[in-house]
Amino acid sequence: MTSALRTAVEFARAARRVVVTTGAGMSKESGIPTFRDAPNALWANYNVEDLATRGGFRRDPALVWRWYAERRTMIAAARPHEGHIALARWEERCDSFVVLTQNIDGLHAAAGSKNVVELHGNIFRYTCFDRGHDVEGPFPQDATPPRCACGSLVRPAVVWFGESLDPAHLETADAALSSCDVLVVVGTSGLVYPAAGFALTARERGARVIEVNPEQTPLTEIADVFVPGGARTILPELVPQTG
Ligand code: APR
Repeated sequence: MTSALRTAVEFARAARRVVVTTGAGMSKESGIPTFRDAPNALWANYNVEDLATRGGFRRDPALVWRWYAERRTMIAAARPHEGHIALARWEERCDSFVVLTQNIDGLHAAAGSKNVVELHGNIFRYTCFDRGHDVEGPFPQDATPPRCACGSLVRPAVVWFGESLDPAHLETADAALSSCDVLVVVGTSGLVYPAAGFALTARERGARVIEVNPEQTPLTEIADVFVPGGARTILPELVPQTG
């Protein structure tokens, strides 16, 4: 065990109130591409502005609808890995445990995590573009988006660039970060706010910050310990097995 991992394990063992924030790297070993960090990253092949913004949807709703349909099909075939499962087990042994995920794939819940805040929404849920009505899916993965009862086009219930996060989610995150002993940051490039700000907030409020990522990020200098490696291998070693 590396000295970094040993230090992280000591922080984790001592923690009773835990927050874990995850990004796309958490799901990479479940077969879901990340956005920025590899040649096959999603944004390497697509223009964010065309696909993950309100303007992009207005310009070409069918393109955006099809792109999410393709991702939904790929994500539906993905399964949680040992890292997701390790977090779900850890939750059972803590006084308080919250997963604040940027991921829209539902894999934390699928692994058994109970207290999950999906900051950027969920690709398997739908809403309507003009009024934000909840719309019950699933829908045939046709080429064009269906319409809500109010007449507005249906879109995936995910947070696009330029959109605000759910204030209730931000309140939950702020409360959790204010009272946790440890924040574990897994698989995020630390570029997209507000999630990228969680590490500094937790540290300023007295928590130990552990970062798990094969690469260093802008958050590495804020972390108390950087554990190089993938979520699937590191998290089962990091999570206390008892207690
Ligand atoms: N385990 C852990 N981390 C990994 C792994 C792995 N096996 N493989 C790659 N990573 C790391 C990369 O080093 C990178 O730091 O995962 C991170 C992925 O970064 P991004 O692709 O930028 O994903 P993320 O940080 O989640 O993006 C934030 O941007 O596009 C928007 O809304 C989208 O939620 C997303 C947000």
